[in-house]
Amino acid sequence: MPAGFLARAAALRQEIERHNYAYYVLDAPTIPDAEYDRLFRELQALEAEHPELVTPDSPTQRVGGKALDAFPKVRHAVAMLSIRTETDTEASGATAFDARVRKELGLSESDPALEYAAELKFDGLAINLRYENGVLVQAATRGDGETGEDVTQNIRTVHAIPLRLNVKSPPAVLEVRGEVFMRRDAFERYNAGQRAAGKPALVNPRNGAAGSIRQLDPAIAAQRPLSFYAYGLGEVQGWAHAPATHSGTLDALEKLGVPVCDERITGHGAAALIAFHDDIAARRDRLPFDIDGVVYKVNRYDVQRELGFVTREPRWAVAHKFPAQEQLTTVLGIEVQVGRTGALTPVARLSPVFVGGVTVTNATLHNQDEIDRKDVRVGDTVIVRRAGDVIPEVVAVVAERRPRPSPPRFDILHSYPVCPVCGSHVARLDDEAAVRCTGGLYCAAQRKQALLHFAGRRAIDIEGLGEKLVDQLVDRGLVHSPADVYGLDLDTLAGLERMAGKSAANLLAAIEASKATTLARFIFALGIRNVGEATARDLALYFGSLDSLLAAGEADLMAVSDVGPIVAQSIVQFFGEPHNVEVVKRLRAAGVHWPETAGGKRVAGRLAGKTLVLTGTLPTLTRDAAKERIEAAGGKVAGSVSKKTDYVVAGEEAGSKLAKAQELGVPILDETGLLALLDSGGESP
Ligand code: IVH
Repeated sequence: MPAGFLARAAALRQEIERHNYAYYVLDAPTIPDAEYDRLFRELQALEAEHPELVTPDSPTQRVGGKALDAFPKVRHAVAMLSIRTETDTEASGATAFDARVRKELGLSESDPALEYAAELKFDGLAINLRYENGVLVQAATRGDGETGEDVTQNIRTVHAIPLRLNVKSPPAVLEVRGEVFMRRDAFERYNAGQRAAGKPALVNPRNGAAGSIRQLDPAIAAQRPLSFYAYGLGEVQGWAHAPATHSGTLDALEKLGVPVCDERITGHGAAALIAFHDDIAARRDRLPFDIDGVVYKVNRYDVQRELGFVTREPRWAVAHKFPAQEQLTTVLGIEVQVGRTGALTPVARLSPVFVGGVTVTNATLHNQDEIDRKDVRVGDTVIVRRAGDVIPEVVAVVAERRPRPSPPRFDILHSYPVCPVCGSHVARLDDEAAVRCTGGLYCAAQRKQALLHFAGRRAIDIEGLGEKLVDQLVDRGLVHSPADVYGLDLDTLAGLERMAGKSAANLLAAIEASKATTLARFIFALGIRNVGEATARDLALYFGSLDSLLAAGEADLMAVSDVGPIVAQSIVQFFGEPHNVEVVKRLRAAGVHWPETAGGKRVAGRLAGKTLVLTGTLPTLTRDAAKERIEAAGGKVAGSVSKKTDYVVAGEEAGSKLAKAQELGVPILDETGLLALLDSGGESP
């Protein structure tokens, strides 16, 4: 074989590993993916032609080919010990550790503080990586500490783990110990892909990591995006200038190309450990991966040796755990909560369990799809997760522990045909995950949201009726539905917080003024799901009167431009709920009114097909009002003048648009002209 091939293969390997390191360890890709693929394919082709070129540390060997029958056993050269867990979950656990260590060493209070290293306790799978002369030759799980399993093939698929140490003269033997884990973003991405493909999702990142490494088929392990951080050593032979401290070792490993976590410190005495503990505890949920605590270690190896071991645990290290974020418990029942938008969220009532630092009795099940996916049933044993301030959720069911005979599947629509808050019908739109209460105007759970929307500037427009007032009106039981707003009197309003006599009078005037509205605004104000401003306008234009809208079926509604089956369904459901119709009736009885066009039903607007441009300030109409009137008549308002413009409406201080209109010979109107046009039917002013 020509020597050139050998050199080329070596160069490619080195280059690919350099990019792997940048990408997987430093999180900073150095070349585009396509370029990386090109290098990788060149090496693959070279090795395929000359199989004798293949080395065990070649990057092409990361994705194992054939399935393994079972993992061979590996006897650890140096036992993989476990670590004592400090039971005291308070920061004082660090004080207890420091006190024990000092006592063992026979130190008195006057002796100086000891140097410690503190780091994260990663939540994954412990692995021993054996490098001989700088090349990864074996990877093994911890097993019982004496004997583990040979998972070399699978570990080769973890791109963050170097297949060769980055050093000219490597130690004869260097065993690196650390944790294989899955980052949360990788976990989410992997699960999203699995779900999209209709395949099973992973329960949590730890199971994702442990499960992948213990997969018999390395091709499966290769698909799961895993990470690795080193935290110690096993057997070491012939390491020139071997560090004398734990922190020095981690620094050295990092230089060799082995991933080491940055979240670590060295410091003196218990105070340094407590500070680290508290800092990490506060940031736990913002770390990109799960941890279950922190680990404290005596930093100097000579002091570690002096301290030695008790049974299988070193005296020089302790794990200080944080409250667990996942626990097992049982589902006592499944109920629903109605949110501000009317969505019915299923909630599992749980046998109380201490998780994430609090006692949890409820966990969200999100929606029907999630219930179906996880197949949660009453009586099931489930894994509950509570991380940070996120509401607790049911992660998965422990299938083996389902009661026999098995309880029925839970179906929201079946268990809750009507809203548990207001008794209105519940429904699920075709394209929505949520099941919703249809009593939008009536339901107590949706009251505040409905009122705020109703009073909005683009809806019925009650100036001054904002969030703080809505809160008070609803909380004091003064307003149950938008119709009640029209029954409020001056005394009641003046009695509210932050309402002096003058503002109460202003609000009352605004309420009165809002009674004169347009059909489009009224329809929009009802807050029908999927009916926005533009749709409300189209509906008003098409039906002309509220009664014909109320009488419309789905097919009639779909005749309106831009109204599809979802919008039509929403409208029919809304007016199909008697509670809503009652509120509408009361609003009209209270004096809310609008001009109706009796025959408006099939008539396109008077300005249909016409494009107008507004420029300058009109004497009485605001820009919004003019636009609204034009659009209500079916016209379009454009931003600039062109040959296609039908009219330019010019007011005071009209500028270049007016000039442009004159230049193009586009008819120019003033406000009076516009109003005349709106009245006449769009022929000529
Ligand atoms: S040191 C002799 N450091 O915790 C001490 N272990 O019981 C050996 N772990 O399964 C362990 N993060 O995989 C150490 N920063 C860390 C660790 C850590 C996680 C795991 C380890 C083992 C268990 C120790």
